[in-house]
Amino acid sequence: MKVGIQVPATMANLGCGFDCLGLALPIYNTIIVEETVLPGSGIEINIIDEKNPDSVLNIPTDKNNIVYKAIELLYSYIGQVPDELKITIKTQIPVARGLGSSASVVVGGLMAANTLLRNPADEAVLLSIATEIEGHPDNITPAIKGGVTLSSWEDDGSVVYRKLPWYDDWKVTVCIPDYELATEISRSVLPKEVLLKDAAFNLRRSAMFVEALHTHDSELLKLAMRDRLHQPYRKKLVPGLVAIMDNLRHTNGVLGCFLSGAGPAIGVVSCGANINEVKDIVANTWRDMNVNTQFYSLPLDNEGAKRIL
Ligand code: HSE
Repeated sequence: MKVGIQVPATMANLGCGFDCLGLALPIYNTIIVEETVLPGSGIEINIIDEKNPDSVLNIPTDKNNIVYKAIELLYSYIGQVPDELKITIKTQIPVARGLGSSASVVVGGLMAANTLLRNPADEAVLLSIATEIEGHPDNITPAIKGGVTLSSWEDDGSVVYRKLPWYDDWKVTVCIPDYELATEISRSVLPKEVLLKDAAFNLRRSAMFVEALHTHDSELLKLAMRDRLHQPYRKKLVPGLVAIMDNLRHTNGVLGCFLSGAGPAIGVVSCGANINEVKDIVANTWRDMNVNTQFYSLPLDNEGAKRIL
């Protein structure tokens, strides 16, 4: 049996919603898992970078591979160990940019293994195992469900989530710099404790964000996407972030600008803006710092992970 699962890229936090808000984009990684028939053939892992087929990605192809680890966890859920499997990871999502590449392959591995094993795990179990691996649900939930999601990882390990509405006139521009930033490094600069006034600032914004989405209120969204819990600490790891945000704040039609997940990619939400003007501001700011930018202006992926093989 051969199973292929396509999983979207995701942007987490969306400004105010540290570790709880996320959205899915139509850029995909695909995980193909095949039971091999030859006994003793072991685990074979191949990685194909679909955007740059000649590039060699620095990703393990042994049992330390994150997809294998996800598959192993799903097998252990029913007391089994994977033995003869051929795993192919086809990537389109840039790695270490804050676009959920690791969440996508974890989700793809878990869902492929679950299908091979005739679906022992329901959606709640998949969400919970995937979140356990990632450590937070904000990329995992939109990777599985698509769209914009609000999710919470509860003390018992379960994930509670809701999909939120989104609107075609709210455009997302993804700005991806040409350097990597590991999530562990980006999380290591965060404080263990924050000031009550900063927590209250984000609490207000998160409530505004959800209300703005439910009522299609662009003015409220404009206030909502600001953050005091993680971006102020991460700005030193993403030179240009503050200048880009300052410049975009005064650009017609821009509703918000945020560090995507742990960065360094930046998301810009706009309504009626001149997207080329937005791109120029970002590209010029980063060019002054010798950073090149790749852009995507995309609708959201609303389906989430799905079986394609
Ligand atoms: N919410 C997480 C963070 C996303 O900001 O560290 C990382 O993938």
